[in-house]
Amino acid sequence: MYVEAVECPVVSFGRRRFILDSDDELAEILKSPADYVLINTARGAVGSALAKGAATEQMRPPLSPEQARSEAAATVARSTKILKAELIGLVTGDPFDLASIKPVVEEITQADDQTSSFFFEVTRLKHKDETTFQHSLAVSILMGKLGDALDLDFETVELLIVAGLLHDIGKLTIATGILQKQGSLTVSERATIKSHPRRGHRILKSHSAIPEEVLEICLHHHESLDGRGYPSRLAGADINQLVRICTVCDVFDALTSIRPYKQGWSAGKALGWMFERNNQFDRKLVLRLGAIIKS
Ligand SMILES: [Fe+2]
Repeated sequence: MYVEAVECPVVSFGRRRFILDSDDELAEILKSPADYVLINTARGAVGSALAKGAATEQMRPPLSPEQARSEAAATVARSTKILKAELIGLVTGDPFDLASIKPVVEEITQADDQTSSFFFEVTRLKHKDETTFQHSLAVSILMGKLGDALDLDFETVELLIVAGLLHDIGKLTIATGILQKQGSLTVSERATIKSHPRRGHRILKSHSAIPEEVLEICLHHHESLDGRGYPSRLAGADINQLVRICTVCDVFDALTSIRPYKQGWSAGKALGWMFERNNQFDRKLVLRLGAIIKS
């Protein structure tokens, strides 16, 4: 049977969605203090053992596309609000631990397939005052999905989601007048914007709770495979897979976002543009990202 979620406050069952195909796994779940198990019968039959005696199954009727879209919009709005408060706190020197952004991570990882299929559509539209928060959330969602599609383990996928939420935090230390300037930037303004990975890294490094991988993603998400990125001009194998995942999700969201002053590119156009630039972006990751967006 296809398990969408096991809600258990004590025991972790690894990935949220998985195929349950052994009586031992079923026994583990039944033995646990799980509040409920959500089984998707559209993706697999309900096993006989559970049908015999388990009172833990709780089916949710499928949502209409309108309901799923509005659930996705509500999830994104709630998450953006929490993220905004937490990121501003981080920049202003409030104490920080990962538990404070856990509700956002959970909103992303626990959304069902129907709802999460609308995340891309909902997060494309960026509001002027919340661009950085909405972009960070969108990148985080994409990174989580891409990590999942690459079969990375659950902890790594969570790490990617956290890194997506925090990767652009350095931008919060830059004047909005520069960040949102619509005309061409001066040399000095361009240099200021390009300083955001180092600024972010400095902020995150002052908090011992931030994992090393998240620090590295923050510092290097604008590197390019050909060595022409910033801030360290890393190239090729010196840019690890987790950083590359952030880079493709970051650029994809930037290209497809709709802003008050510009129409975003279509997903197909953005993916095609990145695919052609395999000197900059990891082509395998661009292809995987395309499969996620189209599915
Ligand atoms: Fe950035």
